[in-house]
Amino acid sequence: MPYAHITGWGMSVPEPVLTNDDLAKIVDTNDEWIRERTGIRERRIARENEFPSTLGTRAAFKALSVANLKPTELDLIICSTSTPEHLFPATACLIQDQLGATKAGAFDLLAACTGFIFAVNMAAQSIRSGAIKSALVIGAETLSRFVNWEDRNTCILFGDGAGAFVLQASERPGGILATVMHSDGSGGSLLTLPAGGSRYPATEATLRENQHYIYMDGKEVFRFATKAMAQSTEEVLKLAGLTKDDVKIIIPHQANSRIIEAAARGLKLPMDKFFVNVDRYGNTSTASIPIATVEAVEKGRVQSGDKVVFVGFGAGLTWGALVAEWTGPLPSPRKINVGRYHLWGRVRSLLHRFERFLEGIIWGRRA
Ligand code: ACO
Repeated sequence: MPYAHITGWGMSVPEPVLTNDDLAKIVDTNDEWIRERTGIRERRIARENEFPSTLGTRAAFKALSVANLKPTELDLIICSTSTPEHLFPATACLIQDQLGATKAGAFDLLAACTGFIFAVNMAAQSIRSGAIKSALVIGAETLSRFVNWEDRNTCILFGDGAGAFVLQASERPGGILATVMHSDGSGGSLLTLPAGGSRYPATEATLRENQHYIYMDGKEVFRFATKAMAQSTEEVLKLAGLTKDDVKIIIPHQANSRIIEAAARGLKLPMDKFFVNVDRYGNTSTASIPIATVEAVEKGRVQSGDKVVFVGFGAGLTWGALVAEWTGPLPSPRKINVGRYHLWGRVRSLLHRFERFLEGIIWGRRA
């Protein structure tokens, strides 16, 4: 049975930075309160022409470049997002088109901030079963579009960004060792975006009542999160037959540094075992784990052979953890110029649209 290795990683965040001081000009808050209660100093906000697909595509190309894998070799693309560009088509399909990943099936997965863990597990299981050889998993969000910028309880927390992993099959033992996934829909109302779906389609009333913005019961989510992070870390290590001492680093969902500190206390582990970058990006939901991973690798905190735990929680409620033996790129005889595929992806997409246009002219009226 093949093993599913993480062989590529990449991230992309918008350039515009929104600091706590900037926020204090919009709502009644201040830098000290936000830093003390959340650990956040600043977050990135997508420009008007940036979307989960554009951020996700950039992160994906970087991940493919690290893995030294052509987009045309991908079998599967999963985009985890709670802020998809449309209800349909899936954001994953938009990314597939931009990549020119002609062989890949692509779909979105929605499990809020835990989504990246669930999506990596889906990709890893497909590789382990022998059904596919390579997969791209993306976590991409533009939460700033769904934040009520008049609500100081939520608007201070969230930021935009994307991260991606490439997973590949190899006979070499390692890669994804174990995953646990949990959900409890009874807590669905604690963190929700009420309208815009089929239950409450957009109407004048839903707009007037601010139903298209994130609603969160912060205290309840906080309580749930601290328990969920510690419990699922313990559970996944047990499943993998590992102990806390075997773990080099824990990369948690970056929602709030106090939640991470509480999880560390619950696990009786020092904070330096955890990677934290929530101070610079805020809560980027499902993108936070891959973004943190890229920075942990760049800082030399994750190296080949290390056991790494990824742990998250989010709306749903959902929570879960994954433990992996870090691999890095698989040996490859030649270096691929992924940049060339960027241009090719766009040309190919235009040609397909043009072909469909011509077919419409030739055959359309006779159908
Ligand atoms: N600036 C200043 N004061 C504020 C602000 C603000 N931005 N927000 C709230 N306050 C005030 C409140 O009004 C309250 O005032 P009051 O006592 O006069 O009523 C006081 O500060 C305390 O408010 P609390 O809500 O009790 O503050 P708390 O310590 O619980 O912190 C926070 C709030 C940061 C939201 C915390 O509850 C939290 O982090 N919860 C978890 C959030 C989270 O992780 N969400 C995402 C999870 S899943 C996902 O990522 C999608």
